Amino acid sequence: MNAESLLESYLYKSIKNCENKNSPPRLISAIHHAVFPGGARIRPRLSLAVAQACGNDEPDFALATACSIEFLHCASLVHDDLPCFDNADFRRGKPSVHKAFDERIAVLTGDALIILAYRVVASASVKDKNRLADVLHCISNGVGVPEGIVAGQAWECESKATLRQYQKAKTGALFYAATLSGAIASGDLSNDWGLLGEVLGEAYQVADDIRDVIANPTELGKPTGQDESLGRMSSAKELGLSGAVNYFDDLINKAVLAVPDCKGAGKLKKLVQAESQRLVPKKGPMRVSRSVKSPSRVIFPG
Ligand code: IPE
Ligand code: IPE
Ligand code: MG
Ligand code: MG
Repeated sequence: MNAESLLESYLYKSIKNCENKNSPPRLISAIHHAVFPGGARIRPRLSLAVAQACGNDEPDFALATACSIEFLHCASLVHDDLPCFDNADFRRGKPSVHKAFDERIAVLTGDALIILAYRVVASASVKDKNRLADVLHCISNGVGVPEGIVAGQAWECESKATLRQYQKAKTGALFYAATLSGAIASGDLSNDWGLLGEVLGEAYQVADDIRDVIANPTELGKPTGQDESLGRMSSAKELGLSGAVNYFDDLINKAVLAVPDCKGAGKLKKLVQAESQRLVPKKGPMRVSRSVKSPSRVIFPG
């Protein structure tokens, strides 16, 4: 089985392991709805790629770690779509959890996935128990306060915040946790693996901001134009569209350079470049669906 199929079956098995005939069926269905089918699964793929680059001497634990990162990400999406946050009706091309079920179930689904993320790591087999504590600490930083996803979402509730502070917390922190936890799971702390995640996470959010302006919502599988309609800070707003694209390119170059010198370096660099092309293609039809200032630059030559 390749790494991607292993990950899918681990995610599925982990959910199944905490269901039984007494579980509330709508909550269980909503958890499946939130996790399957997945999106890009970029965070767990990254975590696994780093674990492999670091020797992957505890494969079950590395897989559990990657899986927990994806559960935390899925939880953040379910909560992010709620009416009290972004009020988004679609996610990954289908109704968001509160639309397919209801708001109470969506809140509980996010909560359940967060707990499941910790349970999966705690239940995995690992010979070196220090790694367990370090991974738990690492993923907590990615999602909690002071600078994880929860903090990032909370910056939307403040009257003053900087774009960098906001993006670093809402997206960068989990990417940072993804790369660092992959290294921890394989017991290799000799390189600065967090930097790769941090830079890639920032690039990812810049790309999301660009796509929020120019992408087609059907192709994207989620609503667009949200940053403008909800008055959110965004790179496209702050830098202009072409400025954001240039910034994205710079971040991708920086991410490639941040890949430490190691056995799997080539594979990781390819992963970063493939993601960059998927997120903001260098060629292809310009898909400007709304009137925006200076949308083109060289990446969308038409
Ligand atoms: C969406 O993340 C939220 C952001 C931080 C941009 P993804 O674009 O990775 O979402 P999925 O998992 O592929 O749906
Ligand atoms: C989502 O940010 C980041 C999370 C913590 C969930 P956005 O609200 O910008 O992401 P999308 O566009 O809904 O995926
Ligand atoms: Mg949001
Ligand atoms: Mg959103």
